[in-house]
Amino acid sequence: MSDRLNLAVIIGSTREGRWAPAPAAWIAGVARQHGGFDVDLVDLLDADLPQHLSEQDMWNTESDQSAPVAALSERLHRADAFIVIAGEYNMSIPASLKHAIDYYMDEWAAKPVAMITYGGKVTGGQNAAQHLRQIFPELRTMTIRNTIAFPRFYQHFDERGQFTGFEEAEPAAKSLLDELRWWGRALADARSATPMPSPF
Ligand SMILES: Cc1cc2nc3c(=O)[nH]c(=O)nc-3n(C[C@H](O)[C@H](O)[C@H](O)COP(=O)(O)O)c2cc1C
Repeated sequence: MSDRLNLAVIIGSTREGRWAPAPAAWIAGVARQHGGFDVDLVDLLDADLPQHLSEQDMWNTESDQSAPVAALSERLHRADAFIVIAGEYNMSIPASLKHAIDYYMDEWAAKPVAMITYGGKVTGGQNAAQHLRQIFPELRTMTIRNTIAFPRFYQHFDERGQFTGFEEAEPAAKSLLDELRWWGRALADARSATPMPSPF
């Protein structure tokens, strides 16, 4: 039996011309090489969640009549750990990512999440990361210590158009994945030993 954990890497931006798929593809590749994970690259643009969030949706996502809601529910349920990719939007996270977080509840519960952020400013999206640290505990999701930030990422492309920050960030990615794997294993074991109590 494989000891690998299921990792969902979530592309948080759906903006036209978004940069999010580049860091998502990079960390997905590093995670596959790491050996501790089976990786599912989740693009919220393809997930195509309805704009409308009804009162019932967050309680019935598995049997939701909307195929996109049920399909993303299944992928999030399958995950033992998450990495979210979030550019900073007005000192916070993209609306598309917040919408996907709000759409689900049990899918996120008792699992760890790591954050990879970036932005136009020198802070590298750390305001987005701090907001995620406020949001995720409400879903009973554990935000891990290690993060990766790409400040003013647009200034770091070489003459061939390759982003130079990924290679520099490889050691940080390894530490992040090691920590995520530890939490993912610990929480998977805890979930199977004892169901998490209802928050209500
Ligand atoms: C509406 C909007 C608000 C933004 N606000 C911030 C911000 O507060 N801080 C920052 O560092 N960058 C900010 N930016 C720059 C984004 O982080 C940058 O455009 C990034 O590429 C967005 O992620 P994406 O390309 O994956 O959609 C903002 C961009 C947009 C479009």
